[in-house]
Amino acid sequence: MPIGEKPGRHMAAEVNEQPAVWQRILADQRRIREIAARLAARRPRFVLLAARGTSDHAALYAKYLVEITHELPAGLVSPSTLTSYGARPRLDEVLLIAVSQSGHSPDLVRTIEIGRAQGALTLAVTNNAASPLAQASELNLDIRAGVERAVAATKSYTAQLLTLYLLLLHMRGGEGRAAERMPEWGRQMLDQGGALARIAERYRFAERLVVTARGYSYATAREAALKLMETSYIAAQAFSGADLLHGPLAMIDPLVPVLAVIPEGVGGRAMLPVLARLKEARADVFTIGNASAVASSSAGLVLPEGVAEEVSPILEILPFQMLALHLALARGADPDAPRRLSKVTETL
Ligand code: F6R
Repeated sequence: MPIGEKPGRHMAAEVNEQPAVWQRILADQRRIREIAARLAARRPRFVLLAARGTSDHAALYAKYLVEITHELPAGLVSPSTLTSYGARPRLDEVLLIAVSQSGHSPDLVRTIEIGRAQGALTLAVTNNAASPLAQASELNLDIRAGVERAVAATKSYTAQLLTLYLLLLHMRGGEGRAAERMPEWGRQMLDQGGALARIAERYRFAERLVVTARGYSYATAREAALKLMETSYIAAQAFSGADLLHGPLAMIDPLVPVLAVIPEGVGGRAMLPVLARLKEARADVFTIGNASAVASSSAGLVLPEGVAEEVSPILEILPFQMLALHLALARGADPDAPRRLSKVTETL
């Protein structure tokens, strides 16, 4: 490593850049509105989403938005059913959205090509409008996160979330009030970086971790676990709070730290019985969420007041990104260059 290049410097810079990226997206929504109008005009009856890794978690968030705010059925595609098994389902009246920061993975490109040939309306949401995925799709939307250098995706993830939120909002003619204060709230969360560095010390020697949430925030739990695995090499498993109670709860004991996401709203309320069961198991629970959930946990960080639950995942992931960064550094790893990974992963 050249002298002066500190491990994790790209990831740290990109984590901190997020409020500015959101500001840029919020300030100019013309392209999002234009695409939203074109999608709405076609009146899709079903929404399919295709993505991998971090982008798959953005797709999961969008799935909740489609199901709840549009009351349309939605699903995540298994690309191999089309690419390897050769299935050719009829996809008329389907909106197929591929989400990818790079827009390069061959399985996603092929999924969009097949989807288009089978009658779906196709949209690529990428951080590279010149990518093969954006080119293969009938419509494409650039998330405008700027170049991302760290292997661990951070600003591209929250730019995907915000773009998908605004797209689905404009598609149903909603107003963007819930997202207006995101940049300010994001800066408030990032100001708590020092606290996260101290929390990283607490988990420095952990071998296993469980992350749990429900509703919109389930995407946060999945993404937090991925960030911890790829940067800090910790075996982090994500469960919906409901699924945790259906079995994995049995493996929880005071030596398996649990990270819980419990914002205001329906999903957060649904986590309260889960929190009670974790207490019975004498689990060490660190909560990112509302003040009362944090007060009933072993430790935690309170989300800004007044955040609507449907946009909360955009903020909730910030402390987990900081935790992953600090944990990686504390364990001697470089989160900018996790072992065996490269920025673009190509799968078939
Ligand atoms: C994780 C990460 C990967 C990518 C995945 C998909 O931080 O970067 O999980 O999200 O390889 O890549 P794209 O989004 O380029 O299709």
